[in-house]
Amino acid sequence: MDTEIIRIFEENIDAGLIKKAGDIIKQGGLVAFPTETVYGLGGDALNPDSSRKIYAAKGRPSDNPLIVHISKWEDIDLIVANVPEAARKLAKAFWPGPLTMIMKKSDAVPGETTGGLDTVAVRMPVHKTALAFIEAAGGYVAAPSANISGRPSPTSAKYVIEDMKDRIDMIIDGGDAGIGLESTIVDLSGERPMILRPGFITKEMLEEELGLVDTDPTIFAGDSKEPPKAPGMKYKHYAPKGMLTIVNGPEEEVVEYINVKLKEASFSGKKTGVIATDETADRYEADSIKTVGSRQDESMIAHRLYTILREFDDEGIEIMYSECFDTGGLGQAIMNRLLKAAGHQLINI
Ligand code: TXA
Ligand code: MG
Repeated sequence: MDTEIIRIFEENIDAGLIKKAGDIIKQGGLVAFPTETVYGLGGDALNPDSSRKIYAAKGRPSDNPLIVHISKWEDIDLIVANVPEAARKLAKAFWPGPLTMIMKKSDAVPGETTGGLDTVAVRMPVHKTALAFIEAAGGYVAAPSANISGRPSPTSAKYVIEDMKDRIDMIIDGGDAGIGLESTIVDLSGERPMILRPGFITKEMLEEELGLVDTDPTIFAGDSKEPPKAPGMKYKHYAPKGMLTIVNGPEEEVVEYINVKLKEASFSGKKTGVIATDETADRYEADSIKTVGSRQDESMIAHRLYTILREFDDEGIEIMYSECFDTGGLGQAIMNRLLKAAGHQLINI
């Protein structure tokens, strides 16, 4: 399949191109599009064949449900059986934006889209191109991240093209994704709201609207016996091709430890990399040293993380070490993704 690649600027959306992209979805095709979190791989959420195609293009297990993207609040009524009060509150505070809510689904949503579950994940992105595209596509776009299953989510069109070229009908290049990590997922289908995937909208922000919010305990434990509640969180996601280890401890000792390990790796002929911070970058010796920015600037760390993992892959880095980051606020999402990328290999010194 030939993939058409088009460029749409958020500041100046070309109505003709958006219509063309929307028509592809209406006809059962697939279009990758930018959002504020990561790029999505879109298909018609109400068409079971489209969802099957999404799983095939990603190489994703079909028990892993898709997020349905909408462009206006009223559209939720068709796909959610009973919109809870909590959803109204959260939508008011955080939609459009990087928050996904899970609720009981209506019959309009095929089981193919929800991986056979009786709940549906819904998100209204804030990215203007995404909103215009969803509207043009008929209002309901199922979209996982636009990567091959198991690779880091794409934060720029370059990586979507790398993974999806010739597998889908169209890619909309909208430049870099601002946030760089996937949306926060909160499950509103149970007794108490529960975070299934941390993201830019933090637990503290949700609790300000709803009172106490739980967090799925399995998402930080590498050795949990329980499966995570978001089926997708069980897969070894966000993974670079090489081996990544996170090192936690006082700054000086972390730098020293990582340098010793890097030297060992390089003696045995391996290509090495470090995920460093502006504060430490010039103290490392490795084939590739990447900084996430200042340790204080969590938004920048989130924004840079997946790009760095992809760049290590491009450079053929085999052994990687990363510093550890704080776990408060947005740090929760950062450390969740980093731990997954490292297969939970964390060394405390
Ligand atoms: O930021 C995002 O959310 C991006 C952009 C494209 O919007 N999308 C994204 O989709 O990250 P995906 O498919 O890569 O991740 C969706 C996660 C998976 O872990 C999936 O298992 C979970 O959401 N999920 C979806 N529907 C669910 C449901 N009904 N119950 C529990 N988990 C669900
Ligand atoms: Mg994904």
